[in-house]
Amino acid sequence: MTKADPNMVDSVHSAVACLRQGGVVAIPTETVYGLAGDAMNADAVRLIYTVKERPAINPLIAHCADIHMVERIAIVSPIAQRVIDAFCPGPLTLVLPRTQSHMCDMGCAGLDTVAVRIPSHPMAHNIISSLGNPIFAPSANKSGNLSATTADDVKTALHPHDVMVVDGGACPVGLESTIVRITDMGLEILRHGTITKHDLERAVSTPVYENAHAHTDNPIAPGQLSRHYAPNVPLHMNITTPLKNHAYLGFGGWSACHINLSENGILSEAAHNLFASLHALDARGYAAISVAPIPNTGIGIAINDKLRRAATEI
Ligand code: TXA
Ligand code: MG
Repeated sequence: MTKADPNMVDSVHSAVACLRQGGVVAIPTETVYGLAGDAMNADAVRLIYTVKERPAINPLIAHCADIHMVERIAIVSPIAQRVIDAFCPGPLTLVLPRTQSHMCDMGCAGLDTVAVRIPSHPMAHNIISSLGNPIFAPSANKSGNLSATTADDVKTALHPHDVMVVDGGACPVGLESTIVRITDMGLEILRHGTITKHDLERAVSTPVYENAHAHTDNPIAPGQLSRHYAPNVPLHMNITTPLKNHAYLGFGGWSACHINLSENGILSEAAHNLFASLHALDARGYAAISVAPIPNTGIGIAINDKLRRAATEI
Protein backbone atom coordinates (compact mmCIF):
# COMPACT_ATOMS: atom_id res chain seq x y z
CA MET A 1 0.00 0.00 0.00
CA THR A 2 1.59 3.27 -1.04
CA LYS A 3 -1.13 5.71 0.04
CA ALA A 4 -3.30 5.13 3.13
CA ASP A 5 -6.93 4.40 2.28
CA PRO A 6 -8.90 5.50 5.40
CA ASN A 7 -11.57 2.75 5.05
CA MET A 8 -8.93 0.11 4.70
CA VAL A 9 -6.96 1.34 7.71
CA ASP A 10 -10.17 1.34 9.79
CA SER A 11 -11.00 -2.25 8.95
CA VAL A 12 -7.42 -3.34 9.52
CA HIS A 13 -7.56 -1.76 13.01
CA SER A 14 -10.87 -3.47 13.87
CA ALA A 15 -9.63 -6.81 12.54
CA VAL A 16 -6.43 -6.64 14.57
CA ALA A 17 -8.36 -5.63 17.72
CA CYS A 18 -10.64 -8.66 17.26
CA LEU A 19 -7.68 -11.00 16.64
CA ARG A 20 -5.91 -9.68 19.78
CA GLN A 21 -8.98 -10.66 21.83
CA GLY A 22 -8.84 -14.22 20.47
CA GLY A 23 -11.62 -13.69 17.92
CA VAL A 24 -11.79 -14.78 14.28
CA VAL A 25 -12.13 -12.43 11.30
CA ALA A 26 -12.70 -13.17 7.62
CA ILE A 27 -10.05 -11.33 5.62
CA PRO A 28 -9.30 -10.96 1.92
CA THR A 29 -6.18 -12.52 0.46
CA GLU A 30 -5.08 -12.51 -3.18
CA THR A 31 -6.40 -16.10 -3.56
CA VAL A 32 -9.67 -16.50 -1.60
CA TYR A 33 -11.05 -15.04 1.65
CA GLY A 34 -9.57 -16.63 4.77
CA LEU A 35 -11.09 -17.15 8.23
CA ALA A 36 -8.25 -15.77 10.34
CA GLY A 37 -7.27 -16.33 13.96
CA ASP A 38 -4.04 -15.68 15.91
CA ALA A 39 -1.93 -18.82 15.42
CA MET A 40 -0.54 -18.43 18.97
CA ASN A 41 -3.99 -18.35 20.61
CA ALA A 42 -5.58 -21.76 21.24
CA ASP A 43 -9.09 -20.31 21.75
CA ALA A 44 -8.94 -18.55 18.40
CA VAL A 45 -7.75 -21.69 16.62
CA ARG A 46 -10.52 -23.78 18.23
CA LEU A 47 -13.04 -21.17 17.07
CA ILE A 48 -11.80 -21.44 13.46
CA TYR A 49 -12.49 -25.20 13.49
CA THR A 50 -15.93 -24.67 15.06
CA VAL A 51 -17.09 -21.95 12.66
CA LYS A 52 -15.79 -23.81 9.60
CA GLU A 53 -17.08 -27.19 10.87
CA ARG A 54 -13.65 -28.49 9.92
CA PRO A 55 -12.44 -31.95 10.96
CA ALA A 56 -9.63 -31.73 13.53
CA ILE A 57 -7.40 -33.95 11.34
CA ASN A 58 -7.14 -31.19 8.75
CA PRO A 59 -4.29 -28.76 9.51
CA LEU A 60 -4.34 -25.03 8.69
CA ILE A 61 -2.00 -22.73 6.77
CA ALA A 62 -0.01 -20.27 8.92
CA HIS A 63 0.01 -16.93 7.09
CA CYS A 64 3.07 -14.80 7.80
CA ALA A 65 3.97 -11.18 7.08
CA ASP A 66 7.54 -11.93 5.98
CA ILE A 67 10.38 -14.45 6.06
CA HIS A 68 11.35 -13.48 9.63
CA MET A 69 7.91 -14.50 10.83
CA VAL A 70 8.17 -17.75 8.83
CA GLU A 71 11.48 -18.52 10.58
CA ARG A 72 9.81 -18.23 14.01
CA ILE A 73 7.62 -21.24 13.24
CA ALA A 74 9.39 -23.23 10.49
CA ILE A 75 12.85 -24.45 9.49
CA VAL A 76 13.78 -22.82 6.18
CA SER A 77 16.27 -24.95 4.23
CA PRO A 78 18.28 -23.46 1.32
CA ILE A 79 15.85 -24.94 -1.23
CA ALA A 80 12.85 -23.63 0.73
CA GLN A 81 14.53 -20.24 0.70
CA ARG A 82 14.83 -20.41 -3.11
CA VAL A 83 11.11 -21.18 -3.44
CA ILE A 84 10.26 -18.33 -1.06
CA ASP A 85 12.52 -15.91 -2.94
CA ALA A 86 10.83 -16.83 -6.22
CA PHE A 87 7.15 -16.80 -5.22
CA CYS A 88 6.58 -15.05 -1.90
CA PRO A 89 4.69 -12.94 -1.18
CA GLY A 90 2.14 -14.64 -3.43
CA PRO A 91 -0.23 -17.58 -3.93
CA LEU A 92 2.17 -20.31 -2.80
CA THR A 93 2.13 -22.45 0.37
CA LEU A 94 5.18 -24.40 1.48
CA VAL A 95 5.03 -27.32 3.93
CA LEU A 96 8.09 -27.14 6.20
CA PRO A 97 9.36 -28.79 9.42
CA ARG A 98 8.19 -26.93 12.54
CA THR A 99 10.41 -25.16 15.03
CA GLN A 100 9.72 -25.14 18.79
CA SER A 101 7.36 -22.16 19.08
CA HIS A 102 4.21 -21.01 20.85
CA MET A 103 2.12 -21.85 17.81
CA CYS A 104 -1.09 -23.68 18.73
CA ASP A 105 -0.63 -27.44 18.06
CA MET A 106 -4.23 -27.93 17.03
CA GLY A 107 -3.69 -25.80 13.91
CA CYS A 108 -1.06 -28.31 12.72
CA ALA A 109 -3.33 -31.28 13.52
CA GLY A 110 -0.52 -33.00 15.42
CA LEU A 111 1.91 -33.02 12.47
CA ASP A 112 5.58 -32.11 12.86
CA THR A 113 5.28 -29.89 9.78
CA VAL A 114 3.54 -26.57 9.21
CA ALA A 115 2.15 -25.13 5.99
CA VAL A 116 3.31 -21.50 5.60
CA ARG A 117 2.32 -18.79 3.18
CA ILE A 118 3.14 -15.07 2.83
CA PRO A 119 0.08 -13.47 1.23
CA SER A 120 0.61 -10.53 -1.12
CA HIS A 121 -2.79 -8.92 -0.50
CA PRO A 122 -2.06 -5.56 1.21
CA MET A 123 -4.92 -5.92 3.72
CA ALA A 124 -3.85 -9.43 4.73
CA HIS A 125 -0.24 -8.28 4.98
CA ASN A 126 -1.13 -5.26 7.12
CA ILE A 127 -3.32 -7.29 9.45
CA ILE A 128 -0.63 -9.91 10.04
CA SER A 129 2.21 -7.43 10.49
CA SER A 130 0.13 -5.26 12.88
CA LEU A 131 -0.82 -8.32 14.93
CA GLY A 132 2.83 -9.35 15.01
CA ASN A 133 1.98 -13.08 14.97
CA PRO A 134 1.24 -15.56 12.19
CA ILE A 135 -2.47 -16.16 11.58
CA PHE A 136 -4.05 -19.49 10.75
CA ALA A 137 -6.53 -18.86 7.94
CA PRO A 138 -8.39 -21.62 6.11
CA SER A 139 -10.66 -20.59 3.25
CA ALA A 140 -13.67 -18.74 4.71
CA ASN A 141 -16.36 -21.27 3.87
CA LYS A 142 -17.96 -24.29 5.53
CA SER A 143 -15.71 -27.34 5.20
CA GLY A 144 -16.24 -29.08 1.85
CA ASN A 145 -18.24 -26.27 0.27
CA LEU A 146 -17.39 -23.69 -2.39
CA SER A 147 -14.66 -21.23 -1.38
CA ALA A 148 -15.54 -17.53 -1.18
CA THR A 149 -13.88 -14.81 -3.25
CA THR A 150 -16.15 -11.89 -2.27
CA ALA A 151 -17.18 -10.52 1.15
CA ASP A 152 -20.86 -11.22 0.36
CA ASP A 153 -20.13 -14.88 -0.41
CA VAL A 154 -18.26 -15.14 2.92
CA LYS A 155 -21.26 -13.69 4.79
CA THR A 156 -23.62 -16.17 3.12
CA ALA A 157 -21.23 -19.12 3.64
CA LEU A 158 -20.65 -18.48 7.34
CA HIS A 159 -24.21 -17.49 8.22
CA PRO A 160 -25.53 -17.62 10.97
CA HIS A 161 -22.14 -17.08 12.70
CA ASP A 162 -21.61 -13.41 13.45
CA VAL A 163 -18.09 -13.25 12.01
CA MET A 164 -16.43 -9.90 11.25
CA VAL A 165 -15.70 -9.66 7.52
CA VAL A 166 -13.09 -7.25 6.18
CA ASP A 167 -14.30 -6.30 2.70
CA GLY A 168 -11.38 -6.08 0.28
CA GLY A 169 -13.46 -6.55 -2.88
CA ALA A 170 -13.07 -9.57 -5.16
CA CYS A 171 -9.92 -11.65 -4.62
CA PRO A 172 -7.69 -11.06 -7.66
CA VAL A 173 -6.44 -14.64 -8.17
CA GLY A 174 -9.63 -16.48 -7.22
CA LEU A 175 -8.19 -19.98 -6.55
CA GLU A 176 -6.42 -21.27 -3.44
CA SER A 177 -2.64 -21.24 -3.28
CA THR A 178 -0.49 -23.95 -4.82
CA ILE A 179 0.81 -26.19 -1.97
CA VAL A 180 4.25 -27.80 -2.25
CA ARG A 181 6.55 -29.72 0.05
CA ILE A 182 10.21 -30.54 -0.31
CA THR A 183 11.24 -34.20 -0.57
CA ASP A 184 14.43 -36.07 -1.44
CA MET A 185 13.19 -36.14 -5.03
CA GLY A 186 12.52 -32.41 -5.38
CA LEU A 187 9.35 -30.34 -5.04
CA GLU A 188 6.10 -32.22 -4.62
CA ILE A 189 2.83 -30.48 -5.52
CA LEU A 190 0.18 -31.34 -2.91
CA ARG A 191 -2.47 -28.98 -4.28
CA HIS A 192 -2.64 -27.33 -7.71
CA GLY A 193 -3.08 -23.57 -7.89
CA THR A 194 -2.25 -20.73 -10.24
CA ILE A 195 1.50 -21.17 -9.71
CA THR A 196 1.95 -24.14 -12.03
CA LYS A 197 4.40 -27.03 -12.22
CA HIS A 198 6.03 -25.22 -15.13
CA ASP A 199 6.38 -21.98 -13.09
CA LEU A 200 8.03 -23.94 -10.26
CA GLU A 201 10.39 -25.81 -12.61
CA ARG A 202 11.45 -22.61 -14.29
CA ALA A 203 12.15 -20.72 -11.05
CA VAL A 204 13.76 -23.45 -8.94
CA SER A 205 16.06 -25.78 -10.81
CA THR A 206 14.92 -28.98 -9.14
CA PRO A 207 12.47 -31.72 -10.27
CA VAL A 208 8.80 -30.92 -9.64
CA TYR A 209 6.19 -33.68 -9.52
CA GLU A 210 2.62 -34.24 -8.38
CA ASN A 211 1.82 -36.17 -5.21
CA ALA A 212 0.56 -39.63 -6.11
CA HIS A 213 -2.22 -39.53 -3.51
CA ALA A 214 -3.55 -36.09 -4.45
CA HIS A 215 -6.67 -37.57 -6.07
CA THR A 216 -7.47 -40.23 -3.51
CA ASP A 217 -9.17 -40.30 -0.13
CA ASN A 218 -5.75 -40.52 1.56
CA PRO A 219 -3.95 -37.33 0.46
CA ILE A 220 -0.83 -35.91 2.13
CA ALA A 221 -2.66 -32.57 2.41
CA PRO A 222 -5.60 -33.89 4.44
CA GLY A 223 -7.88 -31.13 3.14
CA GLN A 224 -7.58 -32.60 -0.33
CA LEU A 225 -10.27 -35.20 0.22
CA SER A 226 -12.13 -36.13 -2.95
CA ARG A 227 -15.36 -34.25 -2.17
CA HIS A 228 -14.58 -30.54 -1.84
CA TYR A 229 -15.41 -27.12 -3.29
CA ALA A 230 -18.96 -28.36 -3.85
CA PRO A 231 -22.03 -26.27 -4.69
CA ASN A 232 -25.42 -27.34 -3.26
CA VAL A 233 -26.64 -28.78 -6.56
CA PRO A 234 -24.81 -31.52 -8.55
CA LEU A 235 -22.06 -30.36 -10.90
CA HIS A 236 -21.14 -31.93 -14.26
CA MET A 237 -17.87 -31.31 -16.10
CA ASN A 238 -16.90 -31.27 -19.77
CA ILE A 239 -20.44 -30.67 -21.00
CA THR A 240 -20.97 -29.38 -24.53
CA THR A 241 -24.78 -29.78 -24.65
CA PRO A 242 -26.36 -29.01 -21.28
CA LEU A 243 -29.82 -30.23 -20.30
CA LYS A 244 -32.58 -27.58 -20.34
CA ASN A 245 -32.98 -27.44 -16.54
CA HIS A 246 -29.21 -27.16 -15.91
CA ALA A 247 -27.35 -23.89 -15.37
CA TYR A 248 -24.54 -23.70 -17.93
CA LEU A 249 -21.13 -22.29 -17.03
CA GLY A 250 -19.26 -21.55 -20.25
CA PHE A 251 -15.66 -20.94 -21.22
CA GLY A 252 -14.35 -19.29 -24.38
CA GLY A 253 -16.59 -19.88 -27.37
CA TRP A 254 -19.55 -21.36 -25.44
CA SER A 255 -21.76 -18.32 -25.94
CA ALA A 256 -25.16 -19.90 -25.12
CA CYS A 257 -24.35 -20.09 -21.41
CA HIS A 258 -25.67 -18.43 -18.26
CA ILE A 259 -22.24 -17.18 -17.19
CA ASN A 260 -18.99 -17.35 -19.17
CA LEU A 261 -15.81 -17.84 -17.11
CA SER A 262 -13.79 -16.08 -19.81
CA GLU A 263 -15.24 -15.18 -23.21
CA ASN A 264 -11.72 -14.88 -24.61
CA GLY A 265 -10.68 -18.24 -23.19
CA ILE A 266 -8.13 -16.80 -20.75
CA LEU A 267 -7.45 -19.31 -17.96
CA SER A 268 -6.34 -16.75 -15.33
CA GLU A 269 -9.62 -14.87 -15.90
CA ALA A 270 -11.55 -18.13 -15.57
CA ALA A 271 -9.76 -18.87 -12.28
CA HIS A 272 -10.62 -15.40 -10.99
CA ASN A 273 -14.32 -15.91 -11.86
CA LEU A 274 -14.73 -19.60 -10.95
CA PHE A 275 -16.02 -19.57 -7.36
CA ALA A 276 -18.10 -16.39 -7.71
CA SER A 277 -19.79 -17.85 -10.83
CA LEU A 278 -20.52 -21.17 -9.10
CA HIS A 279 -21.98 -19.33 -6.09
CA ALA A 280 -24.18 -17.25 -8.40
CA LEU A 281 -25.45 -20.24 -10.43
CA ASP A 282 -25.96 -22.31 -7.28
CA ALA A 283 -28.36 -19.65 -5.98
CA ARG A 284 -30.51 -19.60 -9.14
CA GLY A 285 -32.49 -22.77 -8.44
CA TYR A 286 -31.43 -24.98 -11.37
CA ALA A 287 -31.39 -28.77 -10.98
CA ALA A 288 -27.62 -28.92 -11.62
CA ILE A 289 -24.67 -26.93 -12.93
CA SER A 290 -23.04 -28.06 -16.18
CA VAL A 291 -19.59 -26.73 -16.99
CA ALA A 292 -18.06 -26.42 -20.47
CA PRO A 293 -14.72 -28.14 -21.17
CA ILE A 294 -11.72 -26.25 -19.73
CA PRO A 295 -8.30 -26.96 -21.31
CA ASN A 296 -6.25 -29.09 -18.91
CA THR A 297 -3.03 -27.09 -19.24
CA GLY A 298 -1.34 -24.45 -17.06
CA ILE A 299 -3.84 -22.90 -14.65
CA GLY A 300 -6.54 -25.09 -16.26
CA ILE A 301 -5.12 -28.03 -14.27
CA ALA A 302 -6.05 -26.29 -10.98
CA ILE A 303 -9.48 -25.25 -12.32
CA ASN A 304 -10.27 -28.81 -13.48
CA ASP A 305 -9.00 -30.20 -10.16
CA LYS A 306 -11.49 -28.01 -8.24
CA LEU A 307 -14.31 -28.95 -10.64
CA ARG A 308 -13.51 -32.68 -10.37
CA ARG A 309 -13.74 -32.53 -6.57
CA ALA A 310 -16.94 -30.48 -6.76
CA ALA A 311 -18.40 -33.08 -9.15
CA THR A 312 -17.57 -36.11 -6.97
CA GLU A 313 -20.76 -37.70 -5.70
CA ILE A 314 -20.88 -38.27 -1.92
O1 TXA B 1 -4.95 -19.69 -0.80
C1 TXA B 1 -5.02 -20.34 0.24
O2 TXA B 1 -4.18 -21.20 0.54
C2 TXA B 1 -6.20 -20.02 1.20
C3 TXA B 1 -6.08 -18.58 1.65
C4 TXA B 1 -7.12 -18.18 2.66
O3 TXA B 1 -4.78 -18.33 2.11
N1 TXA B 1 -6.21 -20.92 2.30
C5 TXA B 1 -6.60 -22.21 2.18
O4 TXA B 1 -6.64 -22.90 3.38
O5 TXA B 1 -6.90 -22.72 1.13
P1 TXA B 1 -7.41 -24.29 3.58
O6 TXA B 1 -7.35 -24.53 5.04
O7 TXA B 1 -8.74 -24.22 2.97
O8 TXA B 1 -6.50 -25.32 2.87
C6 TXA B 1 -5.25 -25.66 3.44
C7 TXA B 1 -4.73 -26.95 2.88
C8 TXA B 1 -5.52 -28.16 3.31
O9 TXA B 1 -5.67 -29.02 2.17
C9 TXA B 1 -4.61 -28.81 4.36
O10 TXA B 1 -4.80 -30.17 4.46
C10 TXA B 1 -3.23 -28.45 3.82
O11 TXA B 1 -3.38 -27.12 3.36
N2 TXA B 1 -2.19 -28.47 4.86
C11 TXA B 1 -2.10 -27.66 5.94
N3 TXA B 1 -1.04 -28.01 6.71
C12 TXA B 1 -0.44 -29.05 6.09
C13 TXA B 1 0.71 -29.84 6.37
N4 TXA B 1 1.46 -29.64 7.44
N5 TXA B 1 1.02 -30.83 5.49
C14 TXA B 1 0.28 -31.04 4.38
N6 TXA B 1 -0.83 -30.31 4.07
C15 TXA B 1 -1.18 -29.34 4.90
MG1 MG C 1 -10.46 -24.73 1.80
